[in-house]
Parts: sequence; structure tokens; C-alpha cells
Amino acid sequence: MHQLPDLPYDFQALEPVISAEIMQLHYSKHHAAYVANLNIALEKYKEAEGKQDLSAMIALEPAIRFNGGGHVNHSVFWTNLAPVGKGGGELPGGDLAKALQETFGSIESFIEKFSALTVGIQGSGWGWLGYHKANQKLVMTTCNNQDPLSTQGLIPLLGIDVWEHAYYLQYKNVRAEYVKNIWKIIHWKNVEQRFTEAKK
Ligand SMILES: [Fe+2]
Repeated sequence: MHQLPDLPYDFQALEPVISAEIMQLHYSKHHAAYVANLNIALEKYKEAEGKQDLSAMIALEPAIRFNGGGHVNHSVFWTNLAPVGKGGGELPGGDLAKALQETFGSIESFIEKFSALTVGIQGSGWGWLGYHKANQKLVMTTCNNQDPLSTQGLIPLLGIDVWEHAYYLQYKNVRAEYVKNIWKIIHWKNVEQRFTEAKK
């Protein structure tokens, strides 16, 4: 059974960038629902597999992809964020900074391009910085709905959730303002750790 991971900070810890109300709903309702529905779908899948009911197994795949993706994505997202004063917004150094500069020109240029790409997602989705292991390259991309980054053959390093549930209560329809502000609470140390792991 998959479980909701602990949130590494309190609901109000990311204010004023993300309100406690959004955090509470996003984590306790949305992420929790992905976990619950993933477990239900996996349980049904196991039953179908036991009966060798291939049609039923195939019919369950979209639910596993959607809810499994939602669980994987949010589990990365919470750790990609940190309160100001506890690492939030402190720019990266070392190998990650170097790789960002080599790939995107500068960290500022990366943030600018990433923001534009992510704000431009049509409907619900995620902006991602991922690592392509075979090419040893950083890649910036987007995913629709809850498709996990692994569907593009990439290891997730940094994801920004631009589903309306992530910002609407506070930012209304102004997604660009939410994305602009979120850089103040990006936990670059976590992104660096993920980069180091991904390269191994
Ligand atoms: Fe979300």
C-alpha cells in the first residue's frame, strides 16, 4: 500500500508565497486522494491479474497512470519547496549551478525560460527540470495532467505544479504571479541532491 509521505514543514510555513489553506487542501485532500485511488486501482489490478483478466488489467492502466503520477509528482514537489530562512530560495552552487549555466546560459536565464514554459501549459500540468541519464543532460520540459516525468525518459529534479488547485485560492487566474513567487521557496539543496543521485 502506498502512503502519503510526511510534509517536511507546517502548512503555514510557505506563506506568504503559498497560503496555509492551499497547502492544507493540496496535501491533505488532493495528494491524499491520489494515494487512496492509486491503492484502490492497484488492488483491483491485482485481482484482475489473479484471474488473468487482461481486458480488466488494461482498463485499469489510466487510473494507475493518473493517480500513481499524482502521487509521484507531489512527493517530489513537497521536497522541492522549503520555507524562506530554511533553504527556500537560496540559489544552488556546485555541479548543479555549473550544469544550469552550461545548459541554459545562467541560473537567471533558466528561471526565466522555465517560468515562461510552465506558465504556458494549456490546462493542468507540471513544469519540470529533469535529467537525461544516457545523454548526461539537464532537460526542461512540461507534462500534462499527472503524467510523471518518467514517461519522457527523464529523472525528476524540480517540478512546479500548475494545476489550479495549487494556486487558485490565492492567485486566482494569475498563474504567472504564482510561478514568479514560487522561486522564493524553491529548495535548491533538494534539487542538488536529486541531481547528484541521478548522475550515479
Ligand atoms: Fe497538485
